[in-house]
Amino acid sequence: MRNGFILSLLLTIILSSCTKDKGQVPFQVNDRSVFDLVLQTAGSGYYQSGAVLPGAGNSPHGSFKLRMNNVAQRILNSAGELPAGGAVFPDSSLIVKEIQSPGEIQYAVMYKNGRSWAWAEFRGDGKAIYTITANGASCISCHSVTPNRDLVRTFDLH
Ligand code: HEC
Repeated sequence: MRNGFILSLLLTIILSSCTKDKGQVPFQVNDRSVFDLVLQTAGSGYYQSGAVLPGAGNSPHGSFKLRMNNVAQRILNSAGELPAGGAVFPDSSLIVKEIQSPGEIQYAVMYKNGRSWAWAEFRGDGKAIYTITANGASCISCHSVTPNRDLVRTFDLH
């Protein structure tokens, strides 16, 4: 009797989790979908209240504003930074560097997927200057300096 109850409880849980999944298209990480996310999350989540920060250290981009989506913001401390000491951004975190290039905003982007970052750069119209399919080969070494804050450099430089 008791076993039967537990079994039907389990079945209900399994069935309801199956129906929940139905119809949800898993997020495909590619240049198009990530650029769409960049636009959808525009205008909020700015680091240091949206101050224009000058490129620091060996930055290749010049002046920029930094913003993060809701998922990324959840792990920030009261200073708006990723706490030092091994914390990492959760999957689906989006970090957008809005590069203040003359005449247009360009974007350098990190998107957390499968516990690692996807890397891309876009022109304002969405054209990929640096495609996600390059796997960050030109980005990661520069971003891997000590202290490593999940490969994000702004928190130490600004
Ligand atoms: C020559 C070194 C260097 C290279 C190469 C580089 N970056 Fe960065 N990046 C930086 C530095 C330094 C910062 C910190 C902010 C600043 O002052 O510009 C930064 C900041 C960023 C940020 C904001 C988050 C953070 O880490 O602070 C993003 C997003 C980003 N870079 C993306 C990229 C992408 C994508 C590439 C490869 C196409 C790339 N970067 C290549 C040095 C580099």
